[in-house]
Amino acid sequence: MLHNPNHLYIFDTTLRDGEQVPGSQLTTPEKIIIGEALQSLGVDIIEAGFPISSPGDFQSVVELSKAVREPIICALTRANKGDIDCAAEALKYAKRPRIHTGIGSSDMHIKYKFNSTREAILERAAEAVKYAKQFVEDVEFYAEDAGRADNVYLAQMIEAVIAAGATVVNIPDTNGYCLPEQYGAKIRFLKENVKNIDQAIISVHCHNDLGLATANSLSGIQNGARQVECTINGIGERAGNTSLEEVVMALKTHYQTLQFQTNINTKQLYPLSAMVSRMMRMPVQANKAIVGRNAFAHSSGIHQDGVLKHRENYEIINPEDVGIDQSEIILTARSGRHALKHHLERLGYTIERIDLDQTYQRFLTLADEKKEIKDDDLLRLMGEEAESN
Ligand code: KIV
Ligand code: ZN
Repeated sequence: MLHNPNHLYIFDTTLRDGEQVPGSQLTTPEKIIIGEALQSLGVDIIEAGFPISSPGDFQSVVELSKAVREPIICALTRANKGDIDCAAEALKYAKRPRIHTGIGSSDMHIKYKFNSTREAILERAAEAVKYAKQFVEDVEFYAEDAGRADNVYLAQMIEAVIAAGATVVNIPDTNGYCLPEQYGAKIRFLKENVKNIDQAIISVHCHNDLGLATANSLSGIQNGARQVECTINGIGERAGNTSLEEVVMALKTHYQTLQFQTNINTKQLYPLSAMVSRMMRMPVQANKAIVGRNAFAHSSGIHQDGVLKHRENYEIINPEDVGIDQSEIILTARSGRHALKHHLERLGYTIERIDLDQTYQRFLTLADEKKEIKDDDLLRLMGEEAESN
């Protein structure tokens, strides 16, 4: 495979890992709408589902394969023939199909999930890849719970699956356990100790149980990974997966340091976040980075004054770059004169310094009563002021 060394592959799993969240299930037509939006966003790979899990999921992978033609369409399996046969069948209309197969790699999973041994699991892993290769050229292998796996054993497993034909090797921190340093060191260890590692792309797949999914993904990227698995709004099992918008904007903001490009049209991030939140019935927390309601809202007087003097005093991202028209200056009792003047001017008032002082005192009294002052409140305040003058 030929790769642009600066390209970072974006593997979106909103429709698979994201959709596993209770209450967030999608119908096939809804999955196609989101799949088309992900294609337009510019993701490289869409994980469309886990076909063996239900007839509905199987059908969604079939229909998505027909409708969405630019990105690679990927289907998940466990390391067994039945799952792989089913995924291959579901992907038969895909222009660029990928089977994503794998098995547990930590001693915890080997013993308590599979009641097996390291040797037997390693054999099963390589066999699954070999079997999947009969159907598709592009086979990704996941070493589940790699975050807690022994690095030496993990390296043996990865070497075996690459020898069996894996084109991508996914190193999931399934339980969101690792610290960024540890996860980065794990990827570096594989880079340095797996003999055939250059024949495959290393993928990072992190969960957010400690709130470290984005940090861990970036650490993996800095240590040799070239694909990142993520979801819109970070939706996913438990505390979620790495959030696509966070990792993409971190790469863009720190391009000089990290030197990786993606194909993502970042202006579509906010509209897509809103669409996924609505369709999957998962509200986005107000302080969520990049797409939360408060991500570009300034409410303290000092920050408002700074932003009004120069946006970059308190904004490292231009909101327009992520599809938000402009940042917001929220009027509360913590706002200063500068913010009040800004809003009054926006509403068409020109105000002299002396009048501003008087208006500001009346504004503060009102703002102490109400949590937030909206345009209607300001218009009323100015109306009362005109009457009293
Ligand atoms: O978190 C995980 O390990 C996964 C795999 C199935 C890829 O989602
Ligand atoms: Zn996962």
